[in-house]
Amino acid sequence: QIFKWILLNNPLKAAVLPAAGETFSTTLCAELNNTRWQEYRQQRVRVEVQYLLLTRRNPDCAQKFDQDSVGKPTSYFNTSRPTKVIIHGFSALGRKPSWVTDLAQALLGAQDANVVVVDWIYGASFAYNLVVENYKEVALQISVLVNQLQKHGCRLESFHLIGVSLGAHVAGFVGTMFEGKIGRITGLDPAGPMFKGADTSDRLDPTDALFVDAIHTDSDHFGISIPVGHVDFFLNGGMDQTGCARSRFASIFLLFPVYGYVICDHMRALHVYMSALNGTCQLTGIPCASYEDFLKGSCVDCGVFKGRCPAIGLQEKSGIATSPVPQQQKVFLLTTSSAPFCAHHILLTLEVSPLDKSAEVEVTLTTWIVHTSQMYLHLKLYTFSTVYRTVLAHPVALCQIDSIRLRNTGARLYRQGDIHVKSVCVSELPLRRLAPLCVNDIDIRRGVPWSHDFVQVCGTS
Ligand SMILES: *[C@@H]1O[C@H](CO)[C@@H](O)[C@H](O)[C@H]1NC(C)=O
Ligand SMILES: *[C@@H]1O[C@H](CO)[C@@H](O)[C@H](O)[C@H]1NC(C)=O
Ligand SMILES: *[C@@H]1O[C@H](CO)[C@@H](O)[C@H](O)[C@H]1NC(C)=O
Repeated sequence: QIFKWILLNNPLKAAVLPAAGETFSTTLCAELNNTRWQEYRQQRVRVEVQYLLLTRRNPDCAQKFDQDSVGKPTSYFNTSRPTKVIIHGFSALGRKPSWVTDLAQALLGAQDANVVVVDWIYGASFAYNLVVENYKEVALQISVLVNQLQKHGCRLESFHLIGVSLGAHVAGFVGTMFEGKIGRITGLDPAGPMFKGADTSDRLDPTDALFVDAIHTDSDHFGISIPVGHVDFFLNGGMDQTGCARSRFASIFLLFPVYGYVICDHMRALHVYMSALNGTCQLTGIPCASYEDFLKGSCVDCGVFKGRCPAIGLQEKSGIATSPVPQQQKVFLLTTSSAPFCAHHILLTLEVSPLDKSAEVEVTLTTWIVHTSQMYLHLKLYTFSTVYRTVLAHPVALCQIDSIRLRNTGARLYRQGDIHVKSVCVSELPLRRLAPLCVNDIDIRRGVPWSHDFVQVCGTS
């Protein structure tokens, strides 16, 4: 009865499998499962794993998948194509992850592949510490599947496991069982609690696959703060993401006060990854020892990668051409607060004549492209230093910045008179051979903003 009802009401959601010369067969789209606390308590901890398959032939209607489906004419699995395996993480409320189809479709948009979704919601819900006990069991089951697929002709290098949060460590453990011969593992904000101090065999690490990349967005709460791959992208420093509300006042209206914004930071890695797969713009990182150094403008290019900066997405080895591939290389990038998240990294260098009191200047970079867009920055100036460097995120490229304005905003607070600016320069990271845009010899008076228009055209390269 229910079967009929669903078919009648969701005609688009029924997968029709039209293999040439065969009779048509109709099946329901497979779905991820939900679990409820009640159910969970009655049945104790169960690690039940089911697999769903999405391909370009069925991007909207998942097919149930297991080792016996391979090779059957009704299965959309194609052993000569690469296989992406999506592994979700912990679910506090036992709800199925809502982003799975979006990620699968973004992957299919970027590559003609088999996308296998691992559904282990029964083992992944409610108590985090118990879930952590389950993750190896899930990994074991996945490795049985991978083994089977290998027997059907899939090459180990053609597997790419994409793990979200705890799923990243599941992927890592699968990788350990194949002695690092799996093609690639991508960790999207790999889980931190109970893993940071763990042995490398118990967590994701660079030996788990031929290439391991990770995106870090919440390393102060749910994410891991240490590098776990060959290349580790730390977004906005890897802890707090722009656009994720952090107001205490706002959070008292939420059921789970801390959860609200923390989960926003944690899930940002996934959203940025999907956006990168969309390919609207490049999300490239710059190698640096720490976020502080990066913000201070101490790291300005990708020399360690022979000039090619690693990019988030499906590019082979994240675009790194140097060999051997480095390990645990931290790279940093700033993002905007919403999709597609790409920002241009503008390096601002300000040199002033020595000051007799502390001061503050406000720097504004304005563009009139599309719609007026501005970037403000407040720079605190001290008596003991005359050169200030800082990296900021701007929505447009340097060549599209139309004006710069400086304002002496600290005059009242610091009683600093005029500030003499020897030079103010802007350039875009990674630094190329182009000379920075500079203006020299400026006096910024109290209450009188100074501004300068740039006349420039964007080159074609
Ligand atoms: C999960 O849901 C599918 C239907 O979508 C069902 O066939 C299967 O039995 C469920 N798994 C468990 C463990 O209940
Ligand atoms: C499987 O993939 C290969 C390589 O992309 C392609 O040539 C072949 O036609 C595919 N087979 C089916 C049944 O789609
Ligand atoms: C990907 O691009 C499409 C349009 O090309 C857009 O509708 C979708 O929201 C984008 N997804 C993400 C995650 O940016």
